[in-house]
Amino acid sequence: MIKLECGDLMLSKFEYSKNFIENDKILICPICKKKLYLKEHSLMCENAHNFNLSKKGISNLVSHSHIKESKIYNYDLFFNRRCFIQKMFYQKLYDKIVSIINKHFYKNINILDLGCGEGAHTINILNNLKLNYKYYGFDYSKIAIQMASDYNSNNRFYFVGDVNNIPIKDYSAHLIIDILSPYNQLEVKRVLKKKGLFIKVSPGKNYLKELRLATGMSIYDKDTEVELNLKKNFKKVRKENILITYPITNEDFMLLLKMSPMQSEKILNKPNTITIDLNIYIIS
Ligand SMILES: C[S@@+](CC[C@H](N)C(=O)[O-])C[C@H]1O[C@@H](n2cnc3c(N)ncnc32)[C@H](O)[C@@H]1O
Ligand SMILES: [Zn+2]
Repeated sequence: MIKLECGDLMLSKFEYSKNFIENDKILICPICKKKLYLKEHSLMCENAHNFNLSKKGISNLVSHSHIKESKIYNYDLFFNRRCFIQKMFYQKLYDKIVSIINKHFYKNINILDLGCGEGAHTINILNNLKLNYKYYGFDYSKIAIQMASDYNSNNRFYFVGDVNNIPIKDYSAHLIIDILSPYNQLEVKRVLKKKGLFIKVSPGKNYLKELRLATGMSIYDKDTEVELNLKKNFKKVRKENILITYPITNEDFMLLLKMSPMQSEKILNKPNTITIDLNIYIIS
């Protein structure tokens, strides 16, 4: 069994999840919306809907039985994604988000991470927070969640879930984070506390423009649409931007190519720089 370190404790992924769920107050059944409790090796509601807690400490909390694993978001993509993310090209993004969170909150918070993927982006943020938190990371991809469970701890739990039916009580999240993932505005409004924050990160026009150029794709042009939708759906939307161009080695470029859903066999020219252009929307 894989053992992880947490302070001076060494627990298995399963034991971490068990501890987390025993102290949880906000997980609900995705089918009937009643509170979920730990019962032996399962999460269960009073209507006996049962969700197995695997040996790796993850549960599938999607209401319908057939989740189709995406062909694009496969193990290789998430593995390369984690390797690329660990190169810290996104450090300025983490710094900005950490500073927003540390300024806005000062006591214990519940954090919800929509489409958390394999978890490496958010762990870089969580590790620098000054406050206590309980973190709920979920993604539609079981493969991603299996990897994300490497970051299990007594205050972090990862599960398979759908942004369109979040298994979390109304008005129970102080903070919702969404890094490059889809969101459902009705669900965000339902689960976010009245004075909560929704931090949504989406690509700016120049995001990975060298990769797009090298693979023959046009520049990303959905940024205006994303912004208009957020402004239509939410009252108070503030925007910040991270724009920086880094030198990149051939090796890191190949990781980037393999971590991206816009993978292509055909590379026109390997670039020696890469641009990170990300919009951070702070919605309160
Ligand atoms: C570009 S990735 C971003 C992942 C992660 N936030 C990161 O930045 O590394 C988009 C993620 O959204 C997830 N996703 C897509 N549709 C979803 C849904 N309906 N519910 C939950 N996750 C979803 C995908 O599985 C994928 O992991
Ligand atoms: Zn139920």
